[in-house]
Amino acid sequence: MLSQKLTKIMSADIGIDLGTANCLVFVRDKGIVLNEPSVVAINKTTREVMAVGEEAKRMLGKTPINVEAIRPMKRGVIADFSVTEALLSAFIKKAIKLVPWRQQILAPYILIAVPSGITEVEKRAVIDSAKHAGAGCVKLVEEPMAAAVGVGLPVLDPAGNMIVDIGGGTTEVAVISLSGIVSAKSVRVGGDELDLAIITHMKKFYNLMIGELTAENIKIKIGSAYPVKDEETLEVKGLDIVSRFPKTVKISAKEVRNALQEPVTSIIEAVNGTLELCPPDLAADLIDRGIMLAGGGALLTGLDRLLTEETGLNANVAEEPLNAVAKGTGIMLQNDYMHRER
Ligand SMILES: Nc1ncnc2c1ncn2[C@@H]1O[C@H](COP(=O)(O)OP(=O)(O)OP(=O)(O)O)[C@@H](O)[C@H]1O
Ligand SMILES: [Mg+2]
Repeated sequence: MLSQKLTKIMSADIGIDLGTANCLVFVRDKGIVLNEPSVVAINKTTREVMAVGEEAKRMLGKTPINVEAIRPMKRGVIADFSVTEALLSAFIKKAIKLVPWRQQILAPYILIAVPSGITEVEKRAVIDSAKHAGAGCVKLVEEPMAAAVGVGLPVLDPAGNMIVDIGGGTTEVAVISLSGIVSAKSVRVGGDELDLAIITHMKKFYNLMIGELTAENIKIKIGSAYPVKDEETLEVKGLDIVSRFPKTVKISAKEVRNALQEPVTSIIEAVNGTLELCPPDLAADLIDRGIMLAGGGALLTGLDRLLTEETGLNANVAEEPLNAVAKGTGIMLQNDYMHRER
């Protein structure tokens, strides 16, 4: 058996945030080296992978007949195992190319953050996929724990720390104390559900069909959870359901906020539900410590304000919410937080 020190010299340590919307890869001593959408474009006839990540996302909804752009993870779970494996494999291979040759001698140690709600079968599938993709040893960590570490919450303290990670497919809420999750909730509502609510709104009120990318764009540009001053309007292009011709309509920030109300309420309910499950002493700590928001969904305008109002606790958005989980895996690798037997 090789000593731990030697193993560290001869192999890479890689942290992966395997997100529904985005996949980020952290390499020890280098930081986040990859940050790309979790999309794979495949040839429908041969099942050959045509493109992965950024390039494949550009193809979403715009592929020629024989090419399909797939998001293999939906609502925080693996919907397509073989395509997820292709995605992991492409990213792991790209990451390995970025480490010095001596760290390529042994297969890498890989720490993957996964949603806390996934089943044992899904966990096994992630581990097997990473092993097929060239990992020597694979460890999993729950996403909210990685996010909490990544945003710098003092998770080792004997006190309550609340993290809310709003991703594309899931919202993960957890109260952490003494490096363990004390109470948690994982709901399959995130940015995708918000996009879907916008698609439904456009169909219902304007007979307008829009794609996922357009809906996401509307959400990012004028979407909100709480009223803001000087609300904007936006011109949206899509396809008229009746005439089948392209058309443009103007929508307001207020109507988008109304359209988003249902999924936003589910997120608030997940936070309240976790607070209810939390032991009183730890819940009391949150009065001083507040709630930390991470994940891309945390960037929805006014969500922090709405959460503060609804819970009575101070909700703050992390500095780089989209990087929180990947950073957390990196900090864990860097500090030998995980037990690293091979
Ligand atoms: N400025 C913004 N306003 C609102 N939503 C945003 C903004 N920027 C990104 N998002 C949304 O954040 C989501 C992606 O976040 P993130 O990368 O944290 O998800 P993920 O980790 O891939 O998903 P999951 O954790 O559910 O598996 C997308 O739905 C995206 O539309
Ligand atoms: Mg995530």
